[in-house]
Amino acid sequence: MKDSSIQIIEKPEWVSWDDIKQCLYEAHSVNRAKGISMAHYQWPAEKIQDSLGENGFMLVALDGDKLVGTAGIGEKFGNKWYANGRYAYECYASVLPEYAGKGIYKMLEIRREEKAKEEGYDVLIGDTHSKNTHRIEIALKNGFRLVRFFRAASKDHYSVVIVKWLNGCPYSSFYCWIKFEVSKLQALIRFPLKK
Ligand SMILES: CC(C)(COP(=O)(O)OP(=O)(O)OC[C@H]1O[C@@H](n2cnc3c(N)ncnc32)[C@H](O)[C@@H]1OP(=O)(O)O)[C@@H](O)C(=O)NCCC(=O)NCCS
Repeated sequence: MKDSSIQIIEKPEWVSWDDIKQCLYEAHSVNRAKGISMAHYQWPAEKIQDSLGENGFMLVALDGDKLVGTAGIGEKFGNKWYANGRYAYECYASVLPEYAGKGIYKMLEIRREEKAKEEGYDVLIGDTHSKNTHRIEIALKNGFRLVRFFRAASKDHYSVVIVKWLNGCPYSSFYCWIKFEVSKLQALIRFPLKK
């Protein structure tokens, strides 16, 4: 199904933040089954809403009046080599397992990028569990670069940071690769995971 019955819109009032949380929770069942646990989707619904900030937004994928997917953007400011100034933080990507693999996330992501551009962002940044290979593969197919590897603060796992420059990447892929590999080495030396 490349499903034309799926509608991508900004979260309407009648979709509650609890609905969003529930969709995230169900979507992440595929990760939990692989022993991959992430923090953000487990937050209370109000914290999910607050984390997007005043200028953030949440897109939803609807099948009729059923919520089947989510994709958010939060406004953030950084002072890293890959994020100097204002950037769009990609968060809360989810598609219900029974709707997965049908291009719904792709639809969400296309709209998310369009809207980020409309709102004047040049850079999209996301992060995910280093073992969430499906999410990482999708990002790489979509022109994101891996730029950083780090140990997540509160969990015994590593995360990766992905970046997409909407007006073209200002760095060579070799430069990004070196920066990523060095950060990985540093993280693994500093925080070896318990066996
Ligand atoms: C990750 C997730 C949102 C993907 O949703 P999905 O709807 O199944 O993904 P899609 O069907 O849109 O992807 C379909 C294909 O398009 C590709 N694709 C998706 N978005 C793309 C984009 N913007 N550009 C290029 N390719 C893209 C995918 O790699 C995939 O390729 P394939 O057909 O060769 O496998 C979903 O698996 C999920 O909810 N996972 C659990 C939650 C999670 O891990 N969220 C991320 C937390 S950081």
